Amino acid sequence: MLSTKMLQILNDQVAKEVYASHLYLAMASWAENEGLAGIADWFYAQSEEEREHMMKFIRYINERGGHAEVPLVEKPPKDFPGVKEAFDAALDHEKMVSGAINDIAALAFDEKDFATHNWIQWFIEEQREEEDSVQGIIDKLELLGKHGLYVFDRDIMSMRGDH
Ligand code: FEO
Repeated sequence: MLSTKMLQILNDQVAKEVYASHLYLAMASWAENEGLAGIADWFYAQSEEEREHMMKFIRYINERGGHAEVPLVEKPPKDFPGVKEAFDAALDHEKMVSGAINDIAALAFDEKDFATHNWIQWFIEEQREEEDSVQGIIDKLELLGKHGLYVFDRDIMSMRGDH
């Protein structure tokens, strides 16, 4: 059985994962409108992954006797100043999510809820991978001038990690 505090923090995380999914969806739609099909695909796929994260939290809360709530989602931005700025915003968001996941792990440890502590380890690894993947894209973008964007848009199609 989850504590009241644990139930709250896990439900808060459901909302964060849904927002992440919406944010990536907004970035995908923006990129598609900019004619950047490869970048749009990357963001669409990332949006799906975030939805899967949301589902994992919902299923876990219910499995442990809590009641997972479906949250109202804040509207993400419609436009982004540029590709680099969109990935910078994605990295900032992932860092925030990593902090929230760490808070869950810390609470689980404090409460001696080792089932949750064990379960959340997958997300700790997932966040490390996601931050690394977005940082890798930003590093690559920094190497490019505007003229390289066309090549990059094709290149990113082969950069999706399976995780
Ligand atoms: Fe599910 Fe990338 O946070």
